[in-house]
Amino acid sequence: MHLTKEEERIYEGEEGWARKKAMEILVAIGDINNASQLIPIKSAHISGASYKTIGDAFEFINRLEGAVKVKSTLNPTGMDRENWNAMNVSEKFVTKQQEVINAYKKLGVSVECTCIPYLIGNTPKRGEHIAWAESSAVLYANSVLGARTNMEGAPSALAAALIGKTPSYGLHHAENREPELRVCVNCALTDADYSALGFLIGDLVGNKIPVIELPSASLPSTDELKHLSAAIGATGSVGLYHIEGITPEADAIGSPAERAEIEKDDLERFYAENEKGDVIAIGCPHCSASELQRIYALLKAESGGRKVRKEFFIFTARAIKERMQDVVRKIEDYGVKVICDTCFVVSPAFEHYKCVVTNSGKMLRYVPLLCGGANVRLCKTEECVRLAF
Ligand code: F3S
Repeated sequence: MHLTKEEERIYEGEEGWARKKAMEILVAIGDINNASQLIPIKSAHISGASYKTIGDAFEFINRLEGAVKVKSTLNPTGMDRENWNAMNVSEKFVTKQQEVINAYKKLGVSVECTCIPYLIGNTPKRGEHIAWAESSAVLYANSVLGARTNMEGAPSALAAALIGKTPSYGLHHAENREPELRVCVNCALTDADYSALGFLIGDLVGNKIPVIELPSASLPSTDELKHLSAAIGATGSVGLYHIEGITPEADAIGSPAERAEIEKDDLERFYAENEKGDVIAIGCPHCSASELQRIYALLKAESGGRKVRKEFFIFTARAIKERMQDVVRKIEDYGVKVICDTCFVVSPAFEHYKCVVTNSGKMLRYVPLLCGGANVRLCKTEECVRLAF
């Protein structure tokens, strides 16, 4: 990969150890992927924030000096930063988690601790080059916003943030954003159907970019696109999808010959009743303001003046919780807990349940793997709320 004189100086360590290490990571990735050069990025989004998933590897981040060169946000951690004492996490975990957060803060990373940076101000524009980790956010940024990022890991996103550049390959190039498979959906979709659809599509396409053809009656909301992105990222290894007539690049792409069909029955089987569920969890990815509004309306309609009878957790970004204080207070009046900076999957606080009820396709994939082997039941949001009473 060609380096400019300034990049070479950084590579040789003339701007300190941290920038040298960051440049070495970018050059190694660029060389493996035949990138010809580094390109400037507008923002980074960094994963590897929960002590549950990163463990003591964060000590490497602690040793880094300097500051990120572009707007950089952080993924969810393992606890609510302000309300951790109300969570089921050990003192040791709290101490370690705070050290992880401080390590990123010291580098100038904005510790928003959310997987929806695009809803709280780190919102890339169409065509902008970025370096994001967190598969759900990568899929949303590429597909729904038309920004350009590869599926970065925690080290490469942090390295890109420290240099302000990323290797130019893969999804940064228009010719690599063409669809390779058409997925025709032959039924109308609402709510968690998009989670089920994403789960199926990720499984089906692997690393091939799909163009999805929805029935004309289905016009997904941004919340539904958020769930679709998360579920595709959970089961597939692709970083981009198109939806005909909806996503920004879909008008200018070719039509792939390979084709798959998805029928109503394929989605219906996700809702097969297994267990009743001993906990309800919504907010994977973190809830938007409109989702909080909707959950409140559903609680109000369903409660008949009662409080919830099962534990019920909602996960959202702190910036959204603060903006929606009134609604959050009303939701909490029903006995629901609204938690920030973390989520069901990346916190150790939720590892003792038998069956989790959720509207999230990403949880469907990761709860059995990362939350003490619990089962998951996918339900539409309305049904999640109904089951709480
Ligand atoms: Fe976000 Fe946690 Fe889900 S990081 S996408 S809420 S697994």
